Amino acid sequence: MMYAPVEFSEADYPRAEYQRRQQFWDPIRVALFTLAIVAVIGIAIGIVTHFVVEDDKSFYYLGSFKITNIKYKENYGMKSSREFIERSHQIERMMSRIFQHSSGGDRFIKSHVIKMSPDEHGVKILMVLMFRYPSTDSAERIKKKIERILYQSLKTKQLPLTINKPSFTLTSIDGKKMMNLLNSRCGIRMTSSNMPLPASSSTERIVQGREISLEGEWPWQVSLQLIGGGHQCGASLISNTWLLTAAHCFCKNKDPSQWIATFGTTITPPAVQRRLGKIILHENYHRGTNENDIALAQLTTRVEFSNIVQRVCLPDSSIKLPPKTSVFVTGFGSLVDDGPTQNKLRQARVETISTDVCNRKDVYDGLITSGMLCAGYMEGKVDACKGDSGGPLVYGNHDIWYLVGIVSWGQSCALPKKPGVYTRVTRYREWIASKTGI
Ligand code: ARG
Repeated sequence: MMYAPVEFSEADYPRAEYQRRQQFWDPIRVALFTLAIVAVIGIAIGIVTHFVVEDDKSFYYLGSFKITNIKYKENYGMKSSREFIERSHQIERMMSRIFQHSSGGDRFIKSHVIKMSPDEHGVKILMVLMFRYPSTDSAERIKKKIERILYQSLKTKQLPLTINKPSFTLTSIDGKKMMNLLNSRCGIRMTSSNMPLPASSSTERIVQGREISLEGEWPWQVSLQLIGGGHQCGASLISNTWLLTAAHCFCKNKDPSQWIATFGTTITPPAVQRRLGKIILHENYHRGTNENDIALAQLTTRVEFSNIVQRVCLPDSSIKLPPKTSVFVTGFGSLVDDGPTQNKLRQARVETISTDVCNRKDVYDGLITSGMLCAGYMEGKVDACKGDSGGPLVYGNHDIWYLVGIVSWGQSCALPKKPGVYTRVTRYREWIASKTGI
């Protein structure tokens, strides 16, 4: 047919029929296809909108404004200073007050001050604000809502700090930018979806007074391992390259090339792994008395901060925790004296115990020196144990976590009147600074 001679006068008859046959089938096919595609798209749209409508999404903003009723202090430039910490907590509390009881409901998640800088009219603040809104909403529309709530609050609420309204700007940022900004601060923990972690209390996780921790809950926890010898000690990440641990962890071996550090909630598989390049023991560490049981270790290559790897804050040397303060100890150590190392990271809530009580004749009878800190319970039951050494004892204040102790020693584990003894980190704040510059 293709060769049909040109001289056909009613020329196109056979061809026309062919074409007609083609046309006859095509519309049906097309219609069927269209119908099928429409159905599939319809179902897909249905499913997507169902989830989208139900699902909230995190929206992040960078807020900048001036506070006019306070004066800039030199120490605002140092994020670990008491002045920065107290002032930033006050600002963060104020943001909660502004947004939490607003008409929008509980859309506000939290905020963190990133920077405070001097300004001729007071102090300039840079902060990250996190909200949760339906994912169908647009960042620009939400921005308008946030601004409205803020301006309304400035007019109607009694606020301790005066925010200069014209100086206020809000910029929408993505999750990556938000993490980068937060990484300028220590001791912050987030889940993989960039949400704040829930308060740690779930009875299901409790095993012999210790709970299995969630991913990202203690992102500064490190496992120190001897190559070929497995897990030996815990440690805490205090910068991209520095770990803080106990001096007694290196009694067996002080050669950094024999050690690796792993990060993440399991020893195998680790989330991240590094070699050690340098080990610095405290010059006055005494094995017999456990005095100055502190050491620094430097990684050969830096780790990048993420939801899983994060540094803990070092407390200002002036910070004092009153007795019975709730603190957390974490580690891969055994559950009972002389038990095996745990592959999953565990946590235990313990309470600080005053040195006076801890030095009582029926407790540790004067063995506790000024560089040590007791934490646990007089009735025992919850404690760190073998293999937790070198690991962190942390204190959480307004969502920021501080390293207050290093697991050091104890008589057996979890015995009554034999609480855990930790290296008192505040006592060594200057020593750490002198070795690392942190
Ligand atoms: N020194 C032990 C270790 O090397 C841990 C000490 C902690 N003991 C305690 N009861 N809190 O792992």
